[in-house]
Parts: sequence; C-alpha cells; structure tokens
Amino acid sequence: MLVLGISGSLRHDSYNAMLLAAAAARLPPEVAFEQWSGLVSIPPYSEDLDLEPASVHELRDALARADAVLIATPEYNHSVPGQLKNALDWASRPFPANALRAKPVAVIGASTSLFGAVWAQAEVRKVLGATGARVIDEELPVASAHEAFAGDGSLRDAERRASLDAIIERLLGAVRVRLDLAV
Ligand code: FNR
Repeated sequence: MLVLGISGSLRHDSYNAMLLAAAAARLPPEVAFEQWSGLVSIPPYSEDLDLEPASVHELRDALARADAVLIATPEYNHSVPGQLKNALDWASRPFPANALRAKPVAVIGASTSLFGAVWAQAEVRKVLGATGARVIDEELPVASAHEAFAGDGSLRDAERRASLDAIIERLLGAVRVRLDLAV
C-alpha cells in the first residue's frame, strides 16, 4: 500500500511538511510513503493549455499510483493556500475520470495560530469532495505549530498523536475497503 503525502506549503521550514513527516513515521511498516515535492512547479490552471505541463503529468501520475493521499495544509487568510487549490484544480481534470476519483484522502493541518488551520482543512475537504475523492471526514488541527514538535520531529502532545493515528487508521481502512471491493 502506498500513501502519497502532499504539503500545501512551499516554505523551507514548513510546519506542515514536518506534520507530514510526523505522520509518515506513524504509518504501519507495510505501508510505503512518498512525499510529493512538485507543488512549486505547478503552473496556474488554464483551460486553454492544450498540452499538459510535465509537472502536472507528474502530479497526476503520483496520485494515480498512490492508494491513498494525505494532505497537510497551512491556512492563508482563513482558507486554502492558492498554490494548493491550484494543484487540486489541475488534479480534478479530466472530470469525472480524474486521478483523485474514489481515492481515499485525509487532510491534516498546522498553523501558528490557536486554531490549527481548521478552516483551511474544511475547505480542502470541500474541494476534494467536488473532485470525487473519498474524503475522510476528520481533521487534525495542530495549533501553535511553532511549539508543537519535539526535537525528533514527532508531535509533542499525546492526544494529538492519538488523533493522528486515528486519522491514519481511517484512511488505511478506506483503502482496504476499496481494494476488497475491487477483487
Ligand atoms: C498566514 N497564517 C495564518 N494562520 C492561521 O491560522 N490562519 C490564517 O488565516 C493565516 N493566514 C496567513 C496568511 C498568510 C499569507 C501567511 C503567510 C500566513 C500563518 C500560518 O499559519 C503560518 O505562516 C504557518 O507557519 C504556515 O504553514 P507552514 O508554511 O509552516 O507549513
């Protein structure tokens, strides 16, 4: 089983990239994790582009290969960072037969405020619902992200680690259901 990790931040020392790494470290040993790092290369979406840009092809290919997707999103002005929304718009095409269709996807998020990117997570789930993904109806708001991680990159708070484990379990459970249905 392969989980594709997508961080919605382009920042070098991103807390959301740290959150994804913390999540990857908690996956069961039989589950592989791949971090997608192409967000910076995705061009602005235009329906006029005849040829699919190579970076978009790579994104769609990575999504198609993955059994599940885990997105960690920052929150910009109470919403989804534009570059992440733009990448999801690309991923949603061609519609309805896109690479996200029926794909189990979970969304987590970190922000330096006291709210932990809850609005952004809700909006990413809404966008994913529109693409036809199988969206896990859970969130993990990591508030005060600058204080949330231990030196080894793990989440300091045991309750948050338990919530992260529960989201991972639901995500992997959705993959198992999908694979069972396919045989
Ligand atoms: C922010 N930040 C922020 N935080 C939040 O909780 N709610 C918000 O609406 C916003 N808005 C916002 C807008 C813009 C343009 C920036 C640059 C930042 C703060 C944000 O949570 C913080 O920068 C995080 O560290 C971003 O995530 P990464 O890059 O660390 O993953």
